[in-house]
Order: sequence, then C-alpha cells, then structure tokens
Amino acid sequence: MLFAVLSFILLAALAFNITLGTSVIQASDLLNFPLEGNFASCAANCTTAQTAIDDGGSDATSICSAETASKVLSCQQCLFTSLLAANTLPPDPRMGSQPFLAAYGTSCAADANVTFTAPQTALALPPFWDGPTGIEVPLVGLVFVVGAGAFMGIGAIVLLSNM
Ligand SMILES: *[C@@H]1O[C@H](CO)[C@@H](O)[C@H](O)[C@H]1NC(C)=O
Ligand SMILES: *[C@@H]1O[C@H](CO)[C@@H](O)[C@H](O)[C@H]1NC(C)=O
Ligand SMILES: *[C@@H]1O[C@H](CO)[C@@H](O)[C@H](O)[C@H]1NC(C)=O
Repeated sequence: MLFAVLSFILLAALAFNITLGTSVIQASDLLNFPLEGNFASCAANCTTAQTAIDDGGSDATSICSAETASKVLSCQQCLFTSLLAANTLPPDPRMGSQPFLAAYGTSCAADANVTFTAPQTALALPPFWDGPTGIEVPLVGLVFVVGAGAFMGIGAIVLLSNM
C-alpha cells in the first residue's frame, strides 16, 4: 500500500507537463526549440530557463518556483519582443506565447499547488510597440501586425486567441 502510494506520487511528480492547445508538452521540451535568426538573442535567456526546469528534475515544486518562473517569463518575454520587433508570427506555438505561460501556471497549480501572481506569467508589450494600445496582453492574447502595408495600407492585424 505504502509502495503504491509512493509510486503514485513519484509517477505524478515525474510527469510534469503542460497542455498547450491539444499538445501535451513534457518538462524537458518546454523551451526546447531552435533559437536562430530573429530569436538568436533569446538563446541565453531561454537556455537558462530550460536548464532551471531540467534541474528541477521530477520536482514540480522546483519547476514551479518563483525563481524558475521568472526565468521562464524572461525567455518568453524575449521571444515575444523579438516576434513583435521582427513583425512575424511565432514559428512554434511554444514561443513568445501567453497561452504557454497560462498553461505553465495551470500545471503548477495542479502539480505543485503554486498559484502565480498575474505579473509572474504576463507578457508585456515592449516600449517600441506602435500597434493598438490599451491591450491587455494576458487577456486578449498575442497581437501581431503582419505584413504592414498589405492591407488597407495599415497592415493586417492578427489576433491569436489564447483560448
Ligand atoms: C501530465 O501531467 C499530469 C499531472 O502530473 C499527469 O497526470 C499526466 O499523466 C501527464 N501526461 C503526460 C502525457 O505525461
Ligand atoms: C535576458 O537575459 C539578460 C541577461 O541575463 C537580462 O538582462 C535580460 O533582462 C533578459 N531578458 C528579458 C526579456 O528578461
Ligand atoms: C495549497 O496551498 C494553499 C496555500 O498555500 C494551502 O492552504 C493548501 O492547503 C495547499 N493545498 C495542498 C493540497 O497542499
């Protein structure tokens, strides 16, 4: 009985993952995407964050610590800023993604009983942003201006729902 309980705890702990859309992403793959081109400048931030997650091993409490969360946010904020700077859509749904941060928060609440404050998992619009203002990034989702000039001379605005 005790063994069964321990095994269950161990298995549950080993399985830290997040659900992004219809995909389940394991801890070791959370930030494991190519950081090239527009995103090369985020390599350090994202590697640091993935290393912190990997160091957590099977420990959801560590994966969900305030320190790790801040590194994850750093990585995502860097990617988000790079996406807006390059005026491009994310090549991978894990990149620069508010839904990713929300999913991370959801798993941390479930697996580690950690509830992040909003600023711990909220992407911010960079200072150079000249698109629609007054947008709550965490609520509305990601906003990208794609192909400025292609649509009515002002660019097409693509709203990616975060639900
Ligand atoms: C994802 O994590 C949950 C909670 O720890 C676990 O129950 C589930 O089996 C995991 N799913 C996968 C595919 O690893
Ligand atoms: C990325 O890391 C650098 C150096 O650690 C840090 O100064 C910078 O603030 C980080 N970027 C973001 C968006 O947090
Ligand atoms: C989760 O955390 C809250 C606040 O810290 C605490 O009151 C509650 O007992 C915890 N729940 C579990 C299942 O550990």
